[in-house]
Amino acid sequence: MKFDILTIFPDIFDSYFNETILKRAQSKKLVSIGVHDIRKATQDKHNTVDDRPYGGGPGMVLKIDPIYKTLKKVRQKKNAKIILMDPAGKQFDHALAKKYATLNQLTFICGRYEGVDARVDKLIDEKVSIGPYVLSGGELASMVIIEAVARLIPGVLGHGESALNDTFSKGKDYVEFPQYTRPEKFKTWSVPKILLSGDHKKIAEWREGQVKKKQSNRKKNG
Ligand code: 6GU
Repeated sequence: MKFDILTIFPDIFDSYFNETILKRAQSKKLVSIGVHDIRKATQDKHNTVDDRPYGGGPGMVLKIDPIYKTLKKVRQKKNAKIILMDPAGKQFDHALAKKYATLNQLTFICGRYEGVDARVDKLIDEKVSIGPYVLSGGELASMVIIEAVARLIPGVLGHGESALNDTFSKGKDYVEFPQYTRPEKFKTWSVPKILLSGDHKKIAEWREGQVKKKQSNRKKNG
């Protein structure tokens, strides 16, 4: 799968994508990531990427022309989507991550919070948000989506199965049971005895009970 990112801050992505599972996914050729500097598509001597809004008001607006030119250079595969990162867009969730994981390519346009010239609508398939709060730009949000989607691509995770039991993988109400490892006792805090019993049936029942408890707490707390 190919991920392309259009941004005025290309350096933001280096460290994260060159560590963690995304580094391995790239070296295994399961994922490839292109970061495209919108500023390189400008021609004036100051490499201007933004300008004042028509009609007045505070803040600056990202210009359409350099975005258009940058996008033109990003070859689009079949079965691909172009997404504008937008706090007011469709809320990203596990179901959307699964949908995106079936595509061959995702291209993200990272705006700054003040905005992007609205004619960007002509260039995109959808607008996506990672949650109801405001970030200064779409860069972090696009990284969140890339990580969530890449995990679902077969072979990306070490264990073929390890995404299967993740929280949300069995529907939006699913959560994982609590896990413990050595030591058996840390300060005054002990591992639940049942987990040391070797009784797999009892352990499975206990875990199920824990999941139910977490789910009802999640409902209570919204
Ligand atoms: Cl996609 N962009 C920005 N700027 N803020 C956000 C967001 C996106 N999603 C949540 N907050």
